[in-house]
This record gives sequence, C-alpha cells and structure tokens, in this order.
Amino acid sequence: MIDNQKIANAMTIKLEDIFDKLPAVPKFVDGIRRAPARHFTLSPKDTQLALKNALRYIPQKWHQQLAPEFLEELLTRGRIYGYRFRPAGHIKGRSIDDYRSACIEGRAFQVMIDNNLDFDVALYPYELVTYGETGQVCQNWMQYHLIKKYLERLNREQTLVVASGHPLGSFTSAPQAPRVIITNGLMVGCFDDPQNWSRAAAIGVSNYGQMTAGGWMYIGPQGIVHGTYSTLLNAGRDKLGIPADQDLTGRLFVTSGLGGMSGAQGKAIEIANGVGIIAEVDYSRIETRLEQGWVNRVTEEPAEAFKVATQCQRQKKSMAIAFYGNVVDLLEYAVNHNIKIDLLSDQTSCHAVYDGGYCPQGISFAERTELLRSGHAGFKEMVDATLRRHYELIKALADRGTYFFDYGNSFLKAVFDAGVSEICKNGRDPIDGFVFQSYVEDIMGPILFDYGYGPFRWVCLSGKEEDLAKTDRAAMECIDPQRRFQDRDNYVWIRDAAKNRLVVGTKARILYQDAMGRMNIALKFNEMVRNGQIGPVMLGRDHHDTGGTDSPFRETANIKDGSNITADMAIHCYAGNAARAMSLVALHNGGGVGIGNAINGGFGLVLDGSERVDAVIRRAIPWDVMGGVARRAWARNENSIDTSIQYNKMRAGSDHITIPYLADDKMVTDLVTKAFNDMKK
Ligand SMILES: NC(=O)c1ccc[n+]([C@@H]2O[C@H](COP(=O)([O-])OP(=O)(O)OC[C@H]3O[C@@H](n4cnc5c(N)ncnc54)[C@H](O)[C@@H]3O)[C@@H](O)[C@H]2O)c1
Repeated sequence: MIDNQKIANAMTIKLEDIFDKLPAVPKFVDGIRRAPARHFTLSPKDTQLALKNALRYIPQKWHQQLAPEFLEELLTRGRIYGYRFRPAGHIKGRSIDDYRSACIEGRAFQVMIDNNLDFDVALYPYELVTYGETGQVCQNWMQYHLIKKYLERLNREQTLVVASGHPLGSFTSAPQAPRVIITNGLMVGCFDDPQNWSRAAAIGVSNYGQMTAGGWMYIGPQGIVHGTYSTLLNAGRDKLGIPADQDLTGRLFVTSGLGGMSGAQGKAIEIANGVGIIAEVDYSRIETRLEQGWVNRVTEEPAEAFKVATQCQRQKKSMAIAFYGNVVDLLEYAVNHNIKIDLLSDQTSCHAVYDGGYCPQGISFAERTELLRSGHAGFKEMVDATLRRHYELIKALADRGTYFFDYGNSFLKAVFDAGVSEICKNGRDPIDGFVFQSYVEDIMGPILFDYGYGPFRWVCLSGKEEDLAKTDRAAMECIDPQRRFQDRDNYVWIRDAAKNRLVVGTKARILYQDAMGRMNIALKFNEMVRNGQIGPVMLGRDHHDTGGTDSPFRETANIKDGSNITADMAIHCYAGNAARAMSLVALHNGGGVGIGNAINGGFGLVLDGSERVDAVIRRAIPWDVMGGVARRAWARNENSIDTSIQYNKMRAGSDHITIPYLADDKMVTDLVTKAFNDMKK
C-alpha cells in the first residue's frame, strides 16, 4: 500500500528538505506589477484536480493548511502560483560563483533562471512571468525550488527533464548530452488550442513558456532592441527608399506597447536616429522605460505627441515619445489631422488578446484589469470592436502612404478573429496570408533569416562589466563590416552597444550574426575563457530565429511552398541541438503568437573554456542556423538558396544541403490552366 511516508522516503529532492517549516505568507512589494487574474473557468471536478495536482509538491503535514490557500489563489488569480514559497526580497541573477552545483552548467542555469525572475527584468515577477503577458519560467514557486535543487545536484552524467516547468526527474545520460531538456505548452493535436491549453494551465499541467522565458534565456528588452533596430532600418530602406548606408533620420514611426519586448521600440528608433511615438495604456510600464532612458518624454495628448515629433523630425533629432493612452485614440488623431506617418506597427500582446493583452478603447487600464478579474461578458466584444476600428484607421493611413507591418504579435490574426475577413488575402481565411505583411514576411525573413542572421546572444556569468566589454570587443573583431550591409549594421550595433546602455539584469549582449559569424565568435569567447581573460559565458539565442521556429504568422511567414503550416524544422532543430550536445535544449508551443500558432525551440551552451565545448560549437552552431537556411532554401527563398550554395562549397566533404531546382512559372501556369480548362469540358 502506497502512502505519503513511503513516497517521502523514496525522494532525496523534495520541498520539506528545502524548508524546515512553512515559509511565511509573503508581503507583496508595492509598485511591483502583478499579473491580472486569469479568468477562472474550471468545473468543480477540475478544481479538485488542480488542487490535488498542486499538492503533489507538498508534504502531507502541510496539506490542511495549504489546500485552502491554494484554492484561494486559484479562485482569485486563476492559477496556483504557491506565492508562499517565493523567496523573500529581490531575486537577481548573481555571479555564477555564488551558486552551487556538481557541474558548471547547473550553476549557469541558476543564474539564468534568477535573471528571468528579477524585479527589474520580469514583467510579473510574483507570478513567474518574464515577458509577453503570459510567458513563465515555470508554473509555480514549488517547481522553482525543486528545479534549483535538481540543478545543484546535477552532474555531467545526468540530464534533467523539465516538462512545462515541472522537474520530472534527472536521468543518466552522458557528458556529451544536454544537461537539461525543457518543453513548454506542447499539446496533442486535437487539443492544441487556447481553450484546452487554458484549462491545462489552470489545473497545473501546462506552462506557457513564450520563447526565452520557459527556455531560461531571456536577457531583458535588449534581446529585442537589436532585432527591432534592424527591422526598422530595413523597413525604411526597403519601403521608404532610404539608401542602404543611411538610417531613419527625419522619419516618424508610430506604434504601441512599452512592455517586455515592445519596450525595446523606443530605444531602437533612437539608435536608428528616427522619431517614434509609442502608445501605452499602463503607466507603470512607461515609468520603467523613462527610468531606463529608453523613452525620452511622455504625454497624454496626441496633439503634443505629434507636435514634438514633427519638431524633432525637422531638426533631424532622434526622439522616443511615450503616449500615455490607447493606440487607437492616437491613430484617430493622426487620421483626423492628416498627419504623415512613415512607418506604423503595433506591439500590444495580441497573442493573448482576450487575456489582457489588448486594452479596448474607451476604458482605462485599471478598468480593463477589473473587467478581466470579474470575467465581464462584454469584454470580448469591446476588444473586437477596438480591433476593428484599429484596422480601419490603419487602412486609412496606409492609403495615404504609411507602411504598416504586423510585428509578430498576431495582430492581423486577432483582427481576423474579431470578424474582419477582408484582412485575409483570399478574403476568407488566413491560409494565404493577410493584406498587410508581417515584419518577418517582408523584412526580417528575406533580409536576415534567409542568410542565417539571427539573434545570437550571450551572458557573462561572472556578472563582471569588464567581461562584457571584452566580449563586445572580441565580437566586433570577428565582423567584416565591408562584406554586406547587414554586417555593417551589426558592426555598428556592437561598436555602440555599451554606449547605448542596453543592459537590464545580467551582463548580457545580443548580436545578430549568421551561422559562421556565430561559430567564430563562440570559439573566440571559449578561447578567452580558457585563457582566463574572462569568466564562463552562457551562449544562446532567441527562439525567434532562422531555424528555431515554425510559425506561419511570424518566423516562417515568408515560406511560400505550402510548408508554412508544418513544424518539422523547429523539431529537427531541437533534436539536432540535443544530438550535438548543447547544454540546454528547449521546445515550446505558442511563443509570441499564441498556443497552436507556433512551435519554437532554443538552446543554451555554457562556455567553460574546454576543448569539448570547442567541438560542440563547431558541430552544433552551424547546424542550429543552417538547418533553418536549408529549409528556407528548399521553399525556394532566393537569398537562402544563395546562402546554401555558398555553404555547400565552403563545407564540401562535410555538410551538404539539398537545393531546389526552379520550375518555369509560365510553363507550370499554362499547364495547370489547360488541365483545369480541359476538366471543365
Ligand atoms: N519585439 C519583438 O521583436 C517581438 C517579436 C515578436 C513578437 N512580439 C510580440 O509583441 C507583443 C508584445 O510583447 P511584450 O513582451 O512587449 O508584451 P507585453 O504584454 O509586455 O506588452 C504589451 C503592452 O501593450 C500595452 N497595450 C495593450 N493594449 C494597448 C492598447 N490598446 N494601446 C496601447 N497600449 C496597449 C500593454 O499595456 C503592454 O504594456 C507580443 O505579442 C509578442 O509576442 C514582439
């Protein structure tokens, strides 16, 4: 007969060994943002299930006390977070030397996890949400402690398995294997939709990892500034006719969102030397960006926002203005006053449009939060009406010459879901895409991903400023700014990175690079670790990359061979990285575009200076990128074909990519037209 005593005796990693007594109920620090209550919809039976599931982490002696507390959390917050177990005070990604583990990777991952939960970094730190409204490190604080305990015990012969935040266990593997394998939010096909996932999350069996939150590789909004900078620069060049060696001086970009990722927009437009107005309904997020200097001023008046913008455009001065209010109000003003906007986008969290990601027009942020809490029946209709109005205003501006692009936040899909089928190219459904392009479809896909340029990143695990400065210099020396304009942009980026004061949280850096660029920089860093010039480094990337993500609404929006609805690439990337001994591999459902809309994966690689790691870099990093380029090439993307041809030459005798023959369009069209005409006869 199984009983809790037997179960406790069978485990050496358990909560009661971490806490000799129940920690005190926490005091929430004023001014730290809290996640909105996720609407509670569970049946009584599912509520029992949720409670029993959460109590699986808790020794029996605390069940009587914690069961009502967990129930209260579930009823009022929509989830069981186990607030009581959150370590008191400010969590920070400290120096790797401050952590314990039987292997360096175990210590490195603890730095990364804690950085993802830092008050200065995380969006809703008490609810373990790092960014993107719902992206969590893990589901609850019990998991947090157990994961850390596993990491402390982890050795080079083991792999820890983390399923949607739950540490399933550590199992014997090999030194040449990942130390951690993570999955988040994966659902079986017929249940792979937001409703079924929400139930799974509420009963405590699924986690929305976004991309780098659940993959423990978030490095603050800097991670996205570089991508946003490149997107805006290249949108200007491609759509406004700005020459390749010039920037956005004198141009106006209007958008919304100053949250986790969207908060990068102000800084990016400033670095690109343009002028930006960013609408934001939550004043606390504006304050954060003001304190960082990532927006320069704030106003509640659309008239003032546009007046200041025009002055700066005339004076060729860069400026990021926060508009405290609803983006739809801002755009109403622009349309009514015939204001010329060059570039227009939106970065509200439309991947979670009815869960607080998108604030309806006509109500304040506080009212929206209250409506969410009370599960107001009309909330969805309010969101839909605002989305429809938003679309009308964008159409009006686009008709006057503004270039609008979807910023990978599922905005166009949300407008479609709100009842606007004319937003689809075929006027019916999104299968053929939308009438406006997404930034990946139009800009980032062809100009960056098809060459393999993507969001390579690193964290100096020593926590030392001088290590970051040394790595910045070393990375810069690896770039030839004369090779392509993309290389020149990346060179300028890393040259000015320190000056632009991008770091929030750990000493981290992002740098877009192609496959060989990433490999060379990684080898250089590992050599520097070996020579004692710097401490250990954690390498990784955003999942939002050439090979990491299958998402027809974003990363693979420029895949046009029909395979945009498949997810083989992301799975191959993940499995291939595991096979090549990356230190950590992660595979998630959802990412920035919502459950069922993407499969995405990432990696972490701890540079310890060893020759073993040199070999992993040589094997794994080219694969991680070129698997994506190869797939893009097979979809007949021209720049990827070119990159693959070069790669086959460069790696002759080792790697080889299958490259597509191109059929003559006219021959195929004529043939098919004739066949269909014949069938009608
Ligand atoms: N930046 C990128 O490179 C990038 C890439 C891909 C996807 N995304 C997507 O962009 C979205 C935003 O990401 P995030 O991490 O910043 O999320 P977030 O939830 O932290 O920030 C979104 C912000 O929009 C504000 N907002 C909501 N409705 C508004 C409205 N009507 N008017 C004005 N402000 C409003 C919210 O208050 C919030 O601060 C997500 O869907 C994400 O997946 C961003």
